[in-house]
Amino acid sequence: MLEYVYEISPVFDHLSISIKKMAQTMNVPIIKDDTLLYLINLIYLYKPEKILELGSGLGYSTYTFAKFSSENTKITSVDISKETIMRCKDILSISKNFKKINWVNDEALNFLKNNRLNYDLYFIDAMKREYPLYFDTIKKNAEGKFIIVMDNLYMDGKVFDKNDKKGSLMNFFNRRLFLENRGRFIFLPIGDGLGIYNNF
Ligand SMILES: C[S@@+](CC[C@H](N)C(=O)[O-])C[C@H]1O[C@@H](n2cnc3c(N)ncnc32)[C@H](O)[C@@H]1O
Repeated sequence: MLEYVYEISPVFDHLSISIKKMAQTMNVPIIKDDTLLYLINLIYLYKPEKILELGSGLGYSTYTFAKFSSENTKITSVDISKETIMRCKDILSISKNFKKINWVNDEALNFLKNNRLNYDLYFIDAMKREYPLYFDTIKKNAEGKFIIVMDNLYMDGKVFDKNDKKGSLMNFFNRRLFLENRGRFIFLPIGDGLGIYNNF
């Protein structure tokens, strides 16, 4: 059924399809299509002016956020790898929304600890075992209204395996998100598991 959406939707355009193919060839994980479509819908409804993405990959999600956000939206995309940042700049330089994106080469937690800006939408997609630290740091420091989206909360299925240490830690975190954020957190069973927290 996704084939139908591919055919009629402007989301999967020439550039996004070529980034996706590149990701497959290079074995770089990128956001799943259903998750991406959900996030576009969130961006349409919520209209964030400032988006922070932790984990740029090949710029696939960044490109789509830039394409479907308002004209005055600014996106900051942070990645630990200098090579990744350079590649993203190169790939997306042909996009007319390239100017909306500020690429930052930094370790996500370090960036968050030093950051003094408030963002409307935080998209967490960097190092999985650091998710609790990212989440807690944002919640502690950010002011005003914001949404935190976290991808890969299934951790590629590891959360279902009780013998997997990394999966068990994520499983613990997922449960904590519900317990500590009653009424403000939802878990969508789409893609690789998507968590959405809002503070308003
Ligand atoms: C799953 S990819 C991001 C995919 C991208 N958001 C998308 O959907 O198109 C994860 C990225 O996080 C970066 N990363 C891993 N650990 C990191 C860290 N501690 N700080 C910042 N970036 C990190 C990796 O270099 C990689 O580019």
